Amino acid sequence: MNAASSQETARIGPVTATTPTQAHSRAAKLRESIERHQHRYHALDDPEIADGDYDALVDELAALEAAHPELATPDSPTRRVGAAPAQGFAPVRHETPMLSLDKCGSEDELRAWAERCRRYLGEDAEFAYFCEPKIDGVAVSLTYQDGRLIRAATRGDGETGEDITANVRTIDAIPHELRGSPPPVLEARGEVYMPVAGFLAFNERARAAGEKPIVNPRNGAAGSLRQLDPKMTASRPLAMFCYGVGARRGWTVGGHAAVMAAFKAFGLPVNPRGTRQPDLEGCARYVEELLAERDALGYAIDGAVVKVDDFVQQARLGQVTRKPRWAVAYKYPPEEATTVVLAVDFQVGRTGAITPVAKLRPVFVGGVTVSNATLHNMDEIKRLDLRVGDSVLIHRAGDVIPRIMRVDAAQRHQAAEPVAMPAECPACGAAIVRGADEVVARCGAGLGCAAQRKERLRHFASRLALDIKGLGDKLVDQLVANGVADPADLYDLEKPRFAKLELAKLDRMGPKSAENLLAALAASKQTTFARFIYALGIREVGETTAQALAARFATLDALTKADLETLQEVEDVGPVVATHVVAFFADDANLALARKLHLEVGITWPTPPVEQNDEPERPLSGQTWVLTGTLEAMPRQEAKTALAALGAKVAGTVSKNTTQVVAGPGAGSKRAKAEALGVPIMDEAVFVDFIKAGGAPENPRPARAIGKEASE
Ligand code: IVH
Repeated sequence: MNAASSQETARIGPVTATTPTQAHSRAAKLRESIERHQHRYHALDDPEIADGDYDALVDELAALEAAHPELATPDSPTRRVGAAPAQGFAPVRHETPMLSLDKCGSEDELRAWAERCRRYLGEDAEFAYFCEPKIDGVAVSLTYQDGRLIRAATRGDGETGEDITANVRTIDAIPHELRGSPPPVLEARGEVYMPVAGFLAFNERARAAGEKPIVNPRNGAAGSLRQLDPKMTASRPLAMFCYGVGARRGWTVGGHAAVMAAFKAFGLPVNPRGTRQPDLEGCARYVEELLAERDALGYAIDGAVVKVDDFVQQARLGQVTRKPRWAVAYKYPPEEATTVVLAVDFQVGRTGAITPVAKLRPVFVGGVTVSNATLHNMDEIKRLDLRVGDSVLIHRAGDVIPRIMRVDAAQRHQAAEPVAMPAECPACGAAIVRGADEVVARCGAGLGCAAQRKERLRHFASRLALDIKGLGDKLVDQLVANGVADPADLYDLEKPRFAKLELAKLDRMGPKSAENLLAALAASKQTTFARFIYALGIREVGETTAQALAARFATLDALTKADLETLQEVEDVGPVVATHVVAFFADDANLALARKLHLEVGITWPTPPVEQNDEPERPLSGQTWVLTGTLEAMPRQEAKTALAALGAKVAGTVSKNTTQVVAGPGAGSKRAKAEALGVPIMDEAVFVDFIKAGGAPENPRPARAIGKEASE
C-alpha cells in the first residue's frame, strides 16, 4: 500500500468493523470516499490515488456488504464499478417485446410508408410525425422503479435479453435515480453508443500499446457492454440516447414527443435533434438535413427514424413481424466497406514526413467515394500485416479520413506483396532518415526536396492559412517546376525574375484565372497574425495553437525571439510544440522568410489594441498565476474562472514571469520550480479565502504584487 492509500485509510477510519453500527458507519464513509474518487477519476480526470488502492476501497465495501446484506443498496458504488456477475449474464424477459424497424432508402419509399399509414388510419386522418437520428449502437432497456434504476437489459431476441445492470450502472450518462416525479414503473429504451471522439481516442491508445483497435463505434459499444467485469465497461467511453418507452405503470402520456419531453425532465438522456414534424415534407427535409450534418454529430448514426407521434394512432397501426407499422428507418450509406489495396504509395509531406498511403479500388463509404486511405507509418502497416492486393475493411468515422481497420487474411492471394519503406525519397532521391525514437521517417533534404517545397506552398495557400483562392495543386506543381521556391516568390510572379513564367499560358490557366490569382495574392496580404503563424507551417503548430500564439505575442519579432519557457506559458503549448517553434526560428532560412513575408512582401495584420485603457483595472490585472497539485476545495475550472474574473492570466508552467503559484496536495515539479525561482507559493486554503475575499489585498498571505503594497 502506498502513502496515498494509507492516508486514505487513516482519513476514513479503521478497516475492522464488527458491530452492525460500526459496519454501517464504515460503509457510509467508504461509499462517500469511493464516490469522490470516482468523480475525480471520471469527471475531473484527475485521480488522487492509484487504481489498485481505489480497488481496495471498493473491495472492502463489497466485503462489508457481503457480511451485512442489509447494507447493500442497489446504487452502491460496488455495483457502479466493481461487482462482477457470478457467471455470464442472467436472462431478462421483456414485459413488452423490443421491436425492430422496417427500412426505407429514398424519399419515394418514405412517402410510400406514410401512404400506408394513411390507408390504415383513414384517408382524412390527421397525423404528425417525430423524426430523430438512428443511433448506431446497442439497444438497451432501463427499468426504473419509484425513480430508481433497478435493471438494465439488452434487446436479445426481442423477447428475452441479458441482464447488464452492473455494466450499465457504470455509464455516467445514465441516471441511477430519476428527477422530478417519474411514474412508479418506467421502462426507458434507447441506444447505448460510443461517441466518435471516445472511439478514436480509445483506438489511438490501443494502437500505441500495440493492441487491437475497435473496428467501429457500434462494436465498441457492444463489446464494452458485454464485458464480464464492469470495471472494463467503466473504462470505456459510453453514452446513451433514450428513444422510447416500454413497460409503464401509473403514467398516461399521449405521444412520442411528450415522452421525449418527460424523459428529459426525468434526467434521461434524449437526443437533442429529435423533432416533431407536422407533415411528410418536414420529415423529408429532416432526413436530408441530418444526413448533411452526419459527420459533425459526434456519434455514429446509420439513418433517421420517422415515427407517427400519437400513441392512439400507433396502437391502431400495430405491427407486423416484430416491426411496428408506425415507424420506419431511413437508412444512410454505410460508413464501412470492403475493398482491395491496389498499391501503397509514399507521399512526402511539408516537413518531409514520408507517409504510406493505400491506393484502393474505389468504394462508396458513408456517402463518399474513397480511393485512398492513409496508413500513417510503417508501424501501422506492420500492425495490420497489410500487403498489396489484400482485401481490407475501410471505416469512416465522422469527418475523419477513412482508415483501414483490418485485413481479411483469409482472402489473401499468394501474390500479395509485402510493403517496404523506400530507402530514398520518392520525390527527390535524398536518403530517408528515421530518428531513433521517431515513428515517422523523413526525407532529409528539407527545402531541397521539390515535394516539400510544393507542400509548403500548398499549406501556405490553404483555407485556414492565407486562403489564396485559385492556387490549386496542379498550379503549385507548375510553379515549382518553373522555379518558385518559397511562399515569398508567389508575390514576385509579376517581377522580371519570373518573366519567362507566363501565368496565363500555364496548363489549365488563362488570362482571367491569372488575373484572379494575382488579385487573390494581393488580397492575402491583409490577414491575421494567427493565420500568418499557421501559414508558416511550423511542426505541430495547428490552427488553434497559432491562435494562442498570436494572442500571446504582440509582434512577429516577439514570437521569433521567444524562448522555450515563455512559449510554454501559452495555453496548450507544451515542451514539444515550444521546441518546434524555437527550432523553426533558429533556422536562418525560416527566420529570413518569415521576416521577408512580413516586412518586404508586406503581409500585415491588424494589431490588437495594447492593453485597453478603458478596461477597468481589476485586482489581479497583469498577473500570471499557476495552479498545481490537486485542488480539493474548489474544482480547477472554477479556480481558473475566478482568477480570470479578477483579471489574472492562468498559465500552465512556472517561469520567472509567474506572479503566484497555488499548490494543492501532491504538487511536485512546479512547486519545486517556483521555490527555485523565488515565486511566491500559496496553499489551497489560503487561496480559497483569497478568492472569497474577491482577491482583496487584506488576505492573510497575499500575492506578490499585492504583497508589495502590504509591506509598504
Ligand atoms: S425505435 C419500435 N428509434 O434501431 C421501434 N430505434 O433497426 C423500436 N435504433 O433495435 C426502435 N436509433 O436499436 C428507434 N431513434 C431510434 C433508434 C432506434 C437506433 C435502433 C434500435 C432498434 C434498431 C432497429
